Amino acid sequence: MDRSTTAPRLMIVSDLDHTMVDHHDPENLSLLMFNALWEAKYRQDSLLVFSTGRSLTLYKELRKEKPMLTPDITIMSVGTEITYGNLMVPDDGWVEILNQKWDKKIVLEEASKYPELTLQPETEQRPHKVSFYVQKDKAQEVTKALSECFINHGLDVKIIYSGGIDLDILPQGAGKGQALAYLLKKLNDEGKLPKNTLACGDSGNDAELFSIPEVYGVMVSNAQEELLQWHAVNAKGNPNIIHASERCAGGIIQAIGHFSLGPNISPRDIIDLSDNNLEKFDPAYEVVKFYLFLERWRRAEAENSEIYLSNLKAVCGPCGYFVHPSGFEKPLRDCVDALRRCYGDNRGKQFRVWVDQVFYSQVGSETWIVRFKKWELFEYLSGDTWGIPSALIVYRKSF
Ligand code: GLC
Ligand code: MG
Repeated sequence: MDRSTTAPRLMIVSDLDHTMVDHHDPENLSLLMFNALWEAKYRQDSLLVFSTGRSLTLYKELRKEKPMLTPDITIMSVGTEITYGNLMVPDDGWVEILNQKWDKKIVLEEASKYPELTLQPETEQRPHKVSFYVQKDKAQEVTKALSECFINHGLDVKIIYSGGIDLDILPQGAGKGQALAYLLKKLNDEGKLPKNTLACGDSGNDAELFSIPEVYGVMVSNAQEELLQWHAVNAKGNPNIIHASERCAGGIIQAIGHFSLGPNISPRDIIDLSDNNLEKFDPAYEVVKFYLFLERWRRAEAENSEIYLSNLKAVCGPCGYFVHPSGFEKPLRDCVDALRRCYGDNRGKQFRVWVDQVFYSQVGSETWIVRFKKWELFEYLSGDTWGIPSALIVYRKSF
């Protein structure tokens, strides 16, 4: 599809911490499962939106620590900052809306009078977001007192409690839900309203996402008490919102299946990755499978067998080739032959490979160009992720 003119098939709007990203899984398995599914089956014609409480500074930190994909749209600082594309171009229209009835100085001044509130780090204080920490047992009381105080000052603000610790003060028109509503309207005006939208979250600041009409919702199994309570009071019995039985990204995949939004089997669930179906050739799927195979091969999780290599070569076609961003080119079949040298070189290590932003176009009756980024996570590089900016694979079934 031409992404600039066609309506996306699915838009996933997901929170990051404890939703897309499982901080209790050092192996990042559910995230890697989601990544493979998204790139193989959705990236080409769907939209991935990350909606996080983090500022750009902390978002970038997370991206260094965890094997994450690049979203099409990034909503940061609890729905107060919307940016588009790899260059993260800010939405100035949204900023203008948020400026209405907002006076950050008064908010800070008044809130500082409450000793129960501890200011969060400077990076998390944003033009339309003032953030504190507050203990669970004090949260309700302080929130009530604060809202009365702001009403008295004629300020129309929103106070959100998340994760049993964070308290954010935002303009009334801000928040993850309002940002999503704004985005949906914008896409609709451009004739690109997604056919389906799925919102995913785990904590208080995600609640708003689940009250936007026509949007499916998943609260992951590990959702926080404050979100479950909100759901019990406000959305119980709404069949479009589920509480998944799977944690984090596993819950997102579960919701895709539950609401029948499209394929929900991750290529990481497939045991024989060299298995190929040349009749139903799908270039994005092939690239995902190829790099997944590489990961298993180097971790010595795939059997060291010539059959796998010859099956892989069959998919590549005699004339397919790989183009490195440096301009260096290599026939795909030679790339497969080169695998023999690295079998098991990451055995027992935390080595992961995932591809990102896989886009393809068919340029001939049997020729496809696939453009993508490849990332690797190595244990000995203190968990940092490394990406090749962009690479191309040209598949040619025959010539
Ligand atoms: C993220 C932000 C923090 C915010 C919290 C809840 O952790 O860094 O500032 O309070 O999300 O929205
Ligand atoms: Mg979260």
